[in-house]
Amino acid sequence: MERTDSSRISFINEEKRSYQAENITGTVFGGVRENLFPRHLELVPQLNEVYELELAYYESKILTDEQIIRNGAYFARVGDTFTRHFLMCSGEPVRLPQHSSSRLRSFFRTNQFKTGYATHGLFPYRGKFHPQMIKGVINVMGLKPGDTVLDPMMGSGTVLIEAKLMGIKSIGVDASPFCRFMTQVKLDALTVSLAPVREALENCRSVYDYFVRLAGQPNRGSKKRLERESGDLFVRDSGDKYAPRSKNRGDLPWGSEIPEVYDFLLLAYLDAAGYAERSDRKSPYEQFRAILERYLFVAEKIQLVLAGAESELAESKALEGDARGLPIEDSSIEGIIFSPPYSFAIDYLENDSFHLRFLRTDIDKLREGMIGLRGRTLRQKFELYEADMEKVLSECARVLRPGRICTIVVGTNNNQLSKIFEVPPDEVKGIDELLVELGKPHGLHLIRKLSRQITGMANTMRTEFIVMLQRS
Ligand SMILES: C[S@@+](CC[C@H](N)C(=O)[O-])C[C@H]1O[C@@H](n2cnc3c(N)ncnc32)[C@H](O)[C@@H]1O
Repeated sequence: MERTDSSRISFINEEKRSYQAENITGTVFGGVRENLFPRHLELVPQLNEVYELELAYYESKILTDEQIIRNGAYFARVGDTFTRHFLMCSGEPVRLPQHSSSRLRSFFRTNQFKTGYATHGLFPYRGKFHPQMIKGVINVMGLKPGDTVLDPMMGSGTVLIEAKLMGIKSIGVDASPFCRFMTQVKLDALTVSLAPVREALENCRSVYDYFVRLAGQPNRGSKKRLERESGDLFVRDSGDKYAPRSKNRGDLPWGSEIPEVYDFLLLAYLDAAGYAERSDRKSPYEQFRAILERYLFVAEKIQLVLAGAESELAESKALEGDARGLPIEDSSIEGIIFSPPYSFAIDYLENDSFHLRFLRTDIDKLREGMIGLRGRTLRQKFELYEADMEKVLSECARVLRPGRICTIVVGTNNNQLSKIFEVPPDEVKGIDELLVELGKPHGLHLIRKLSRQITGMANTMRTEFIVMLQRS
């Protein structure tokens, strides 16, 4: 006989009461973590959000113990063995013998396991993924060494760095040549020869002067001043986009012949010059020195961790290109992860104008191909964004193997959208929902959506979604 709703509820309550009586001690005193995970798996410290617990739960279900040790994102230990993620974030060699030093145990700083490890912290790119989350997502998508993951809007290359460390091949594409450059430097920094970098740091003043001769003196605290005074100072005497590598490298004061070293120093210089535009707390030279010291420290730390395990790093390709027309073969990719520009919240070209000019980029031309920046009015921008994102999703569907997953990490700016559609912010259809709709005609179907809160007073965007679409 069918139960009515109220009789069903009282039946469930009855069940719970008898369950409580029998299991209260185990359930409550055991705690949520102990009830979700086998005893031999120890979670990383600072795991404090529901989506993280969910990704950790999937990892524990999908991965073997060996796979968790090698590639897990949310576990510190499997039995007596530290995971690679834990060692990498703690700055300890991944080949460390299985014992726990008191230094390791007490080394818990905010966000230490979420971001800032490996070479992710080399350049502060706005809108960057949380690397630990990407590692978890790569695992949950079922990607394994030998597979290839694509990020069609790679930004600062978070997906490529994580994949490389995990032994998974990767391809990244971005419309901005600066993103390609920055990503390549971060990838190279995992293995770049550091002796010449130390030498450059000892000769810091002449290295700085060298870049100033090439690029012009960075201005302090004012972008406008930079544009007015510098004119074409950034235009160098070569048509080659990556001219520093081929043309000017030989002039460097300490005589380095290694392109990866040159680019490492150049990224530090561009980072310092960009910073000098925003703040005049330190002189541009002091800023360069401080940034180069930090870059060297970051690279030394991860190289120490990876010592002896370099051959396990996978191949990665960082390309300049358009996500609406990917230079990739049909059905050749095992997984896609990307984060589109958050509607039209961040003007990446404005943020990176100093760096782009240095790389001799025609910024106005680049703007025409940048998703989220096209159009004049908000309404026009939204319509073009929608059309562009549909093309991106159709390209994702084309290159992805059937049955595989495309994960999109996207926030929604409801205040902005509510102005366009003239409806209250809480009635707006979010960008996450829009992308799910756009994917359907191309055979991409929603299988899971997780959400995470974005904290910080300055953020108008409060929720970010991890949207997983499966290719039919
Ligand atoms: C939210 S950011 C990605 C950040 C990245 N997930 C990271 O971890 O650094 C979006 C990126 O999309 C890029 N982009 C915009 N239009 C593009 C296009 N048509 N093709 C490829 N990339 C594009 C921007 O240059 C920007 O780097």
